[in-house]
Amino acid sequence: KTPVWEARADLVVVGSGVAGLTAALRAQELGLHVLVVTKAAVSDGNTRWAQGGVAVVLEAEHDPGDSVAKHAEDTFTAGAGLCDEDAARSIIDGGPAAVARLRAGGAQFDAGSEGLARTREGGHSAFRVIHAGGDATGAEVERSLVARAGDRRVPVLQHHLAVDALLTPLGEVAGVTVLDRDGAPGVVRASAVLLASGGFGQLYQATSNPEIATGDGFALALRAGATVADVEFVQFHPTVLYTPGARGRCPLVTEAVRGEGATLVDGAGRSVMAGVHPLGDLAPRDVVAAAITRRMGLAPGGIDDHVFLDATGISGFSKRFPTVHAACAVLGLDPAVDAIPVTPAAHFACGGVVTTVDGRSSVTGLYAAGEVARTGLHGANRLASNSLLEGLVVGHRVAEAVAADLAAGVLPDPSRGRLPSRTSAPAADRDALQRVMSRYAAIGRDADGLAAAGSVLDLSTQDSPLWTHAAVEDAALTVVAQALLAAAARRTESRGCHVRSDFPTRAESWQRSQLIRLSPSGQP
Ligand code: SIN
Repeated sequence: KTPVWEARADLVVVGSGVAGLTAALRAQELGLHVLVVTKAAVSDGNTRWAQGGVAVVLEAEHDPGDSVAKHAEDTFTAGAGLCDEDAARSIIDGGPAAVARLRAGGAQFDAGSEGLARTREGGHSAFRVIHAGGDATGAEVERSLVARAGDRRVPVLQHHLAVDALLTPLGEVAGVTVLDRDGAPGVVRASAVLLASGGFGQLYQATSNPEIATGDGFALALRAGATVADVEFVQFHPTVLYTPGARGRCPLVTEAVRGEGATLVDGAGRSVMAGVHPLGDLAPRDVVAAAITRRMGLAPGGIDDHVFLDATGISGFSKRFPTVHAACAVLGLDPAVDAIPVTPAAHFACGGVVTTVDGRSSVTGLYAAGEVARTGLHGANRLASNSLLEGLVVGHRVAEAVAADLAAGVLPDPSRGRLPSRTSAPAADRDALQRVMSRYAAIGRDADGLAAAGSVLDLSTQDSPLWTHAAVEDAALTVVAQALLAAAARRTESRGCHVRSDFPTRAESWQRSQLIRLSPSGQP
């Protein structure tokens, strides 16, 4: 369809979570004309659902037993040999300054007896996770960024969905096509496009992610010629609240509940994590999620679909974890006396658009930050509470990178961006896609299942015009699923979040990331 409206900017930011708003605010401070395009209301992204906190070693509140180097070591251990260690160190080093900026901008973190309160989560060897509102850290981070963006009049187009990149004849990105809230097509011409569009939890039936997490940015980047990596590593959060037959977003039960002493038990009251890992209930997330899945499979009478979190020993639960408490209350449960039924659910994409630590992708003019990006911080399994940290650090840096690239004259002239010639894309039926991905490409994969999922996907896919928000999302989920299935089938080992029953151990030869691009026919 011919665009019926046009806008211009130096930098268009796609997404309004922690990475996008941090970047937009910094870009505006640097004098860039910035425009934020976001597919729902400004606060509706994944950021506001983050509970546990921000992992950071603050000099001012220093725990003498902890250090930035230990935080990095824990990140590498969780990442199961696939972190880019230099990139990870760089991002972790940037944490204290990023948190200081956020607090200076109005974000309020919970106070402890000395300085800020700190908790532990899976894979952390020290108490270094700062939090807000007990278990509402993402909500406070998002609130403070949205308030600042409002005060500074950062322009935001809400309910506008970015579809495809405008490419110059040299293959540089020079803007995006967009569907507005009524589905009217438009273009935003810009010297730089930042994808800060979050993840793709909606690939699965049960996820901690909201409905908008459909991988749109991954798809846009792939179609623009960018390289993605580590897509097979989808992190399952070990504990979302179990409700029979639940679909869509499932309430998270933050790992900080285990950090404060809760334990996982099966229906017979036996510990799930005893003897599994030296860190027990606070083992890295991939280990805990896989152990729960195994235990559910061993339940008498066949496959069970949940275990329990016993948090009855935590005093003042409702004050420390008001969000979890409220979600349990909806089910008539009180964690002070009742065990909380929990199950793993899709939570975080460890891979994404390959970028430097300041958000530059492999395509000139295209940048990425936050969950959509793959900087190398997370490797094969993200350490808890490193994602808000990454969004804050890389969000700030990417604005500086764009400003520097603009000043150096290396970015394209936006008027040279051409509309994509293709106006349709393969899109699978969403229910079928979620069903096969949950069955064959979640925790516990094998060659036959991955091949079966690919066949079902092929059968339920047809070329679909990208004229509605739903069609764009379905096409995005489809290309992400294809990339994930291809990468998961090739990786003949188990590592981090990628668990293969036919290749149950880690293989030295697979200590590398798989880089993926789309072929001219659109196949990953
Ligand atoms: C949690 O609070 O358990 C989630 C935090 C995260 O995903 O990093």
